[in-house]
Amino acid sequence: MAQTASRMTIAPIHPCFGARVEGVDLGEPLDTATFQQIFDAFQEYSVLVFHGQRLTDETQMAFSRRFGPLETTINATGRENRLHPNLVDLSNTDPERDGGLMDWTDRRMLYQSGNQLWHTDSSFKPVPAMASLLSGREVPPVGGETEFASMRHAYRTLPEATRQGLEGKVVVHSILYSRSTIAKGLFDPEHEKGLPPVRQALVRTNPVNGRKAVYVGSHAWYVEGMPDQESRRLLDELLAHATRPASVYTHRWRPWDLVMWDNRSVLHRGRPWDAARHRRVMRRTTIAGDGPTVDPPFARRTSAWEGIIPDGVGVE
Ligand code: OGA
Ligand code: MN
Repeated sequence: MAQTASRMTIAPIHPCFGARVEGVDLGEPLDTATFQQIFDAFQEYSVLVFHGQRLTDETQMAFSRRFGPLETTINATGRENRLHPNLVDLSNTDPERDGGLMDWTDRRMLYQSGNQLWHTDSSFKPVPAMASLLSGREVPPVGGETEFASMRHAYRTLPEATRQGLEGKVVVHSILYSRSTIAKGLFDPEHEKGLPPVRQALVRTNPVNGRKAVYVGSHAWYVEGMPDQESRRLLDELLAHATRPASVYTHRWRPWDLVMWDNRSVLHRGRPWDAARHRRVMRRTTIAGDGPTVDPPFARRTSAWEGIIPDGVGVE
């Protein structure tokens, strides 16, 4: 049966952003009024937490598609494509060994450990993601939290002069850059060619409500037109400002939580857990963005990144 908005409650979970939504079953088709309330809360709070949502891959995709078309996912290193292309598998269970556990020494887990850097999903794509929905199917008893920080709150709390200085700046983002800070050789050369660096606005405005955010994170490589060291310092300072402990919401997963976040306005990162001992089975759907944040979206080739990104770029 379709649901009515009247049973639903929305309560803030952190002083800066985020809300818990109760009294709704996302596995059922939602009526327009209920969906609209969730949509509005999403624009307002940036992170929505829903407990007790026993979603299947199908119902997760169906709810996600209400917000817009879904992204198809880059074929992550070493992972065979066993799920629907609209689903990302963030699990430490090994499909090749009948669900045996993969620990952090496994190349696939090393690739996944990139999620433990503060980031915003798909900022390395010419059209970055609008939102992500992560369903915790099996979660470890300790560790494995997901942390969030509001880039909108970060923007609001910067000095006015700093804010003005950021206006109109363009940042080049690259997943080859962010993954190069973890390990070499996570992508094969063919794969690298398909991941050219892209340009993103440093100040991003939500088209629905006009609210601005500092759009940074692990894929942010350099600020166009700025000397390298100054650019690195600025990006590091903005990230540190955005992720001050008081600005962070830590989500401690219970099985069947669904957490949805706005990639235009929050950063997130996963926290480690004992992957050799505990299963963590998560599925993500990603709602595509509606266009590039700047024009043109691709960075002009410069000697800095001709071909493969040089060793140690950006690693302090
Ligand atoms: C993601 C992500 C972190 C986590 O799903 O995009 O970064 O805690 N996840 O699994
Ligand atoms: Mn992510």
